[in-house]
Amino acid sequence: MDKQKYNKHKQKIGTRAIHIRAGRHPEGAHILPIYQTGTFGCETLEETAKAFEDNSKSFLYTRFDNPNFRQVEKKIASLEQGEDCLVFSSGMAAINTTIQFLARNSSHVICTQTLYGGTDELFTNILPKLGIEFSFVDTRDPENVKKAVKENTKVIFLETPANPTLALADIKEISEIARKKNILVVVDNSFASPYNQRPLTLGADLVIHSITKYLNGHGDLIMGAVVGEKELLRGGKDSLFHWRDITGCVAAPLNCFLAERGLQTFGVRMERYNSNALKLANFLENRAEKEKVYYPGLASHPQHQLAQKQMLTEQGKPGFGGMVVFELKGGMSAAKRFLEYFLKNETAVSLVISLGYIDTLIQHPATMTHAAIPREERLKKGITDGLLRVSVGIEDWEDIKESFEQALNSINI
Ligand SMILES: Cc1ncc(COP(=O)(O)O)c(C=O)c1O
Repeated sequence: MDKQKYNKHKQKIGTRAIHIRAGRHPEGAHILPIYQTGTFGCETLEETAKAFEDNSKSFLYTRFDNPNFRQVEKKIASLEQGEDCLVFSSGMAAINTTIQFLARNSSHVICTQTLYGGTDELFTNILPKLGIEFSFVDTRDPENVKKAVKENTKVIFLETPANPTLALADIKEISEIARKKNILVVVDNSFASPYNQRPLTLGADLVIHSITKYLNGHGDLIMGAVVGEKELLRGGKDSLFHWRDITGCVAAPLNCFLAERGLQTFGVRMERYNSNALKLANFLENRAEKEKVYYPGLASHPQHQLAQKQMLTEQGKPGFGGMVVFELKGGMSAAKRFLEYFLKNETAVSLVISLGYIDTLIQHPATMTHAAIPREERLKKGITDGLLRVSVGIEDWEDIKESFEQALNSINI
C-alpha cells in the first residue's frame, strides 16, 4: 500500500464513543434496537432478484450483515481513525480470518515473539498446517524484522504492548520497513486500545481488536474487530467482508448491542484505567516483595522512551494503559500464595483470565493463558514461572491498593 489513509475527526474520542451512529435509527429510537433476526425480506419479487444480483439491499441475512454490526463498526472505525471496520464473532476469529485472507498461497508472516496464548497457538500449530509460514521475531528491535523478511513475506503481525510481557514494538519504524517491501502491517491493539495508541496513524494497514476487552469493558461478551481501508475490508468478492460471510465467523446482534452500550463509557473508563494502573505500578515498584514490575509508564520499563512516543491520547498526553505485570521474589510458589489470597478473601481483585473489564483481574500466565506453550519456549518469550498479569479496573484506587497490600503482606517474603 503506497499511502496510508486515516480519518481525522472534529469531536474528541470520548465524545465519538458516545455519539457516532451508523445512521438514523428506526422510529427515531434513541438507542439502536437489537435486530435479533436471521433474515430480512424484500417487498417484491423484482426487488428480491435484484438484491441477490447486485447486492443493492443492505440487509438480507445476518451472516452477511446486520444493522447492529454496522453501528459498532462505524464507532470503532472512528475511534481508531480508520476508514472502515468489520466485527467478528471473537478477537481470534478476526485474527484468523485476516491472516488466512492476507497470507493465503503459502505466504510468510513475521510476528511478535510474545503473543496472547491463543494467537501463539494459532500461529504455531494451526495455520502452519494450512501452509502459512510464521517467523516469531523479537520485534523490540526493528532490525530483527528487517532481517526476517523473505521473498514471500506478506504480513507483519505486531502485538504491542505484548501479552503478557508488555514488550513494545515501534509501529512507525516497522511500518516504514514494511512499506518499502510491499508488506502489510497488522497490529493487535487490544492492550492499549485506541484511547492510548492508534496504529493506523503510525503507518499500520490494519488494526485488530478483541472487543471482548477494553472496547466493551464489561466482561459480558466475546467479539472482535478489524479496522482499515474500505477497499481491503469491503472491496467486492476478494475482500475480508466476503471471507467473513462465507466462513461464517460473524458477531451476534445482541453482542453488538452490548458492545455499543459498553463503548459509550469508553473515554471515562480509559482515563481511570490509565490512572489506576500507573498508581499500582508505582505502588508495586516500591514494595520489597517484588522482583520486577513491567509497565510502559514506568521509567524502569526498558522501552519507556518508545512508550512516551507511541502511547499517546489524541490530545498528545501519555496513556500507558491498564495492564500491569510483575514478578514476585520467590517465583512460582510466591505467585501461588499471592493468588490464593484473592480466592480466599473478599478483595477488589478477581482471579480470572481476560482483561479490560471494569473490575480488577489477576492471572498467572504460566499456568493459565500461556500454559499450552512448553516451559522452555515460554521462558524464552520472557513468560517466567512467577509472572503475574493484572488488568487494573476502575474501582476506587484506595480499595485496589488495600487488596494488593494485604495480599503482599500475607505471603511473608
Ligand atoms: C491481545 C489479545 N488479542 C486477542 C485475543 C483474543 O480475543 P478473544 O478472546 O476475543 O477471541 C486476546 C484474548 O485474551 C488478547 O489478549
